[in-house]
Amino acid sequence: MTPQTLDALPTALDYAALSKDELTERIRRRKAELDAVILGHNYQRVEIQEVSDYLGDSLGLSQEAAATDAAVIVFCGVHFMAETAKVLSPDKTVLMPDLRAGCPMADFVTGDALRRLKARHPDAAVVAYVNSTAEVKALSDICCTSSNAVRIVESIPRDQPILFVPDRNLADYVAEKTGRTNIIAWDGYCYVHDDLVLDELDRVQAAHPEARVVVHPEARRELLERADFVTSTSGMVDLAEDHDALIIGTERGLVDRLRQRFPEKTLLPLSGAAICGNMKMNTLAKLAWCLDHGAHEVTLDEGIRSGAERSLRRMLDLSGGWRAPTAEEAELEAAGVRPRGCGCA
Ligand code: 13P
Ligand code: SF4
Repeated sequence: MTPQTLDALPTALDYAALSKDELTERIRRRKAELDAVILGHNYQRVEIQEVSDYLGDSLGLSQEAAATDAAVIVFCGVHFMAETAKVLSPDKTVLMPDLRAGCPMADFVTGDALRRLKARHPDAAVVAYVNSTAEVKALSDICCTSSNAVRIVESIPRDQPILFVPDRNLADYVAEKTGRTNIIAWDGYCYVHDDLVLDELDRVQAAHPEARVVVHPEARRELLERADFVTSTSGMVDLAEDHDALIIGTERGLVDRLRQRFPEKTLLPLSGAAICGNMKMNTLAKLAWCLDHGAHEVTLDEGIRSGAERSLRRMLDLSGGWRAPTAEEAELEAAGVRPRGCGCA
């Protein structure tokens, strides 16, 4: 292998010319120098998952961001997730490998549009799915994620109307689970999950009738009605640990990674085309560039940050906040297995 140099290179393209081993070594060393922690979402590319200190769903990542002792948080996910880390850890430097990695669902609702809706429904509580901008969170009463949305909505008095933004599918799922008829849903959606269709499920199920079906709650109702389980991405990782055959209705990167981890199991993507291009904008080369250059930094207006923190903390308080790892989890973690994340690296 060529000798290692830790001098920063000018552009991400220069890093792309380095080998995976060189990039990984550079990332590990720079991370230690900066006292940085790498938080990675379950949809990240495999090589990013391998260098992440923590992998998880939106809830787990926000709990980790709120609790970390590290000086720098490098967020490998999409923009609202890095923003959430900055909201919860304002004194830390939060970096993203590519600032353009946004979530199109979060962009469905702007602060101004939500203000107008609130003016039309002054008595309603506003629940913001965490896939939203910090400004929208600041205008909301409480946040939720895919793993706690039902519990969060149940915490709101039954006779109070709810404005649920921005995911219409998650709103529909929550309305169905809680039996509430007073949820007004924003007409937003995730292009990856909304595109999952019954035809694809029929085909995979016909070939693998023994497999149980798990679907993310961002998918449409007709898919959820056919699912044995509806859960978040980390919930899916847990299910894969417990089942030998699963059809998994979410971004297929998660499925590919689970198949590597459990080669003996039958783990099938509900759709081969379900790829979140935004999540995949982060590459190992951009991550190495980001650490070497201390960029791109995520910053927030303090008024918006503190408003968003109020809504996020309310959610975390109802979700058990952050908890210390159990003795068994700490042991697994020390052995290089991440029990609260994907556990794959
Ligand atoms: P999770 O919180 O379940 O990981 O979902 C985040 C997301 O963006 C799914 O599309
Ligand atoms: Fe946003 Fe959908 Fe990508 Fe999740 S999968 S980050 S909701 S676009």
